[in-house]
Amino acid sequence: MNENSKLYEDLDRILVTREEISLKVQELGERITRDYEGRSPVLICILKGACVFFTDLVRAIDLPLTMDFMAISSYGSATKTSGVVRLLKDLDEPILGRDVIIVEDIVDSGVTLNFLRQVLIQRGAASLKIAALLDKPARRKIKDLKVDYVCFDIPDAFVVGYGLDYDQRYRNLPDIGVLSPAIYEKP
Ligand code: IMP
Ligand code: MG
Repeated sequence: MNENSKLYEDLDRILVTREEISLKVQELGERITRDYEGRSPVLICILKGACVFFTDLVRAIDLPLTMDFMAISSYGSATKTSGVVRLLKDLDEPILGRDVIIVEDIVDSGVTLNFLRQVLIQRGAASLKIAALLDKPARRKIKDLKVDYVCFDIPDAFVVGYGLDYDQRYRNLPDIGVLSPAIYEKP
């Protein structure tokens, strides 16, 4: 899909291009490959937002990793977090003794990842790190949340694309863009 697509008309501007994403994801994959040398981590994709990032990232990691999937919901269709996290789909495999890497689309307030971190540590993960495509540090509520790997720090704007949605749409945009406020401020 290119930028003449109709979907792009709902964006104010493109914030991160597909080329920039591709370079960073490759770099992150190489970094994780080095950091986990000799180990076999399990990468956990947080559905649905992280799915596009996840499939690119795992292919950039040269390790005998395994994959698992978890679905949670903290947003509804609004652009502000509800602060309540619900588990919609759990992991298929136990993580006792495993080196876990949570793969998330974006860290905003940090409420979602803080909840997930606690759940996975309770289940006996040997180690736990967090990889996020985007970080909005200005909006953090959980100040001591450690995000180990971040591809891009972004300003406080509502973004879509490369897996991120507004009301379940725009996930298939290959670039990341700022959604026009007119789209969500409609009565
Ligand atoms: P947190 O719990 O406030 O950190 O929210 C994290 C979740 O909110 C992410 O996994 C996203 O699903 C969603 N989210 C936060 N900011 C954005 C955004 O700018 N665009 C799309 N989704 C977002
Ligand atoms: Mg999400």
